[in-house]
Amino acid sequence: MNLEALKSIAKAMVAEGKGILAADESSPTIAKRFASIDVESTESNRQSYRQMLFTADGMADYISGVILYDETLRQSTDDGVPFPKLLTDLGVVPGIKVDMGAKPLAFHEGEKVTEGLDGLRDRLKEYYDLGARFTKWRAVIAIGDNIPSANCLDVNAHALARYAALSQEAGLVPIVEPEVLMDGSHTIERCEEVTAAALKQVFAALEAQGVALEGICLKPNMVISGADCPTQADSKQIAEATVRCLTSNVPAAVPGIVFLSGGQTEEQAATNLSEMNKIGPHPWELSFSYGRALQASALKAWSGDVDKLDAGKKAFLHRSRCASAARDGSYSEEMEAAGV
Ligand code: 13P
Repeated sequence: MNLEALKSIAKAMVAEGKGILAADESSPTIAKRFASIDVESTESNRQSYRQMLFTADGMADYISGVILYDETLRQSTDDGVPFPKLLTDLGVVPGIKVDMGAKPLAFHEGEKVTEGLDGLRDRLKEYYDLGARFTKWRAVIAIGDNIPSANCLDVNAHALARYAALSQEAGLVPIVEPEVLMDGSHTIERCEEVTAAALKQVFAALEAQGVALEGICLKPNMVISGADCPTQADSKQIAEATVRCLTSNVPAAVPGIVFLSGGQTEEQAATNLSEMNKIGPHPWELSFSYGRALQASALKAWSGDVDKLDAGKKAFLHRSRCASAARDGSYSEEMEAAGV
């Protein structure tokens, strides 16, 4: 393992004032997003949409890396520049989602395990050759009656660690993503308890499998109230609970923590991250790797219309600028309002 190379990629991924765009929606997921704006999910529409985001002028001021999907990693701009090259030339690190999705866990109703380890070593080699320098694997942990089970946490942590080891072996920085879902009526305290348990298992598995923590990024959920919980914690409570949970469970050797947005609105995701960075300093960078919270308004502004590409770019740049400000706690309502 070339640890120095991994460390320098990880450092670039969490560079000051920047974060990651998760544009790695699988074909079924992007079809769902497009359906919400009445756009058919064809290969050409997917290419146009991703090209709109990647060619937004100045996006590299706020975005350090982009997570791509297998199809996107192989696509090019209208002028024939492969997307990984376009991004690399802008100083943006291209990454790739490598898991094959969360599937029902046998004998554990309501729980899932992420698949994709078989043949992964060969796929990673190809992805490296295509220009990717980091990877992502998402494990999904639901909260409910008697779940998550110890077994669900165990098998997902094991798979995350096997994936992380294989990625580092291939010269790719793994984004390790154990996502505790916000679906449900649970309290923020329950979310904190489950997030802590999930992180403990993940770091035990990473250590057991020889993964170098200096060469990973962690992508956790924020500690928040369940979406249907009658009492919703505010952003200060979210920031305190999340930082407390991470401080107890994430070793300082990890260079960066890049949150997912997980169904939060664009504003919530920016506000919560900004509050956390106000509390600092922290041993790791606290940054973002948002999908929906960087794309929702851009998707709407575009709506599949070639005449609205500029509006889509503008909306994406605004979100990126707000998320970037949250990196040092300076996101504000005025900035939000100054908007698009
Ligand atoms: P969201 O920010 O929309 O949750 O997506 C991030 C992601 O990459 C989930 O795996």
